[in-house]
Amino acid sequence: TTRIVIDTDPGQDDAVAILLALASPEIEVLGVTAVAGNVPLALTQKNARIVCELAGRPDIAVFAGCDRPMLRPLVTAEHVHGRTGLDGPVLPDPAMPLQDMHGVDFIVRTLRAEPEGSVTLCALGPLTNIAMALRMAPDIAGRIARIVLMGGAYFEVGNITPAAEFNIFVDPEAAAVVFGCGAPITVLPLDATHKVLVTKARNDAFRALGTRAGIAVAEMTDFFERFDKAKYGSDGAPLHDPTVIAWLLEPDLFAGRQINVEIETRSDLTLGMTVADWWQITDRPRNALFVGGVDDERFFALLSERLARLP
Ligand code: BDR
Ligand code: CA
Repeated sequence: TTRIVIDTDPGQDDAVAILLALASPEIEVLGVTAVAGNVPLALTQKNARIVCELAGRPDIAVFAGCDRPMLRPLVTAEHVHGRTGLDGPVLPDPAMPLQDMHGVDFIVRTLRAEPEGSVTLCALGPLTNIAMALRMAPDIAGRIARIVLMGGAYFEVGNITPAAEFNIFVDPEAAAVVFGCGAPITVLPLDATHKVLVTKARNDAFRALGTRAGIAVAEMTDFFERFDKAKYGSDGAPLHDPTVIAWLLEPDLFAGRQINVEIETRSDLTLGMTVADWWQITDRPRNALFVGGVDDERFFALLSERLARLP
């Protein structure tokens, strides 16, 4: 089994990623840490608990982490995700508790308590919590099995500015800490996630599961796709964050390159850009596996098969 901590800012696509992880027997979720991103922290920590309950897993420990980026004011994305961050389905308020411990403390303690190289961090939002953990406890860098994150772009460039993807743009200093930390990193950028679109047929298939989770996912993507359809004329909602979990489950669905990736933190124009040396023009260290291709048919087959296991 792959033992993971999910760091997240739900977000409809974060929600689908959490559901995919909780539906997969190969994965053990040690805890979920919420971060401010798509919506403020008060909503992301609540949404994380709503999603665990939707999956029938009120036993999962959910922690609140940082409520703002390391240096900058928070930028949110209600224009994509709606006022609650999880607009679409009508889901009950969570009854399960929020843990008392800070999410960053949970990340540090977990990495110190578990055997070296046994815990994978899955980052689905701005990288604030993970960077703060690395700053507080630099010893954890060498204990992380891998950081698998959704963020950045190369050929697909940006979605929040012309040059930057949302998760990296919101906290570029945190991203720079993470990309410089020395742990193995896998990046699922827009180049991958814009290839996994919830077309009408795929959305109908989720709804046709007839389960609480299947119907909720269909309603989430119904809402979430409005933005991308209107903005980019795409065929449906891109399922950004679930690619992180799918990469853990079936890495051979994806194609990528081990390359150097650096984060722009100084320019106003290109702040948060992931400068990815795809063509290996420099001899800078190859710090990340940067994914560019995905077999979308097999991705959706995997996702549907797993969602069908949930209540
Ligand atoms: C990323 O930003 C958020 O809107 C999504 O949840 C995803 O993590 C895509 O750029
Ligand atoms: Ca997210």
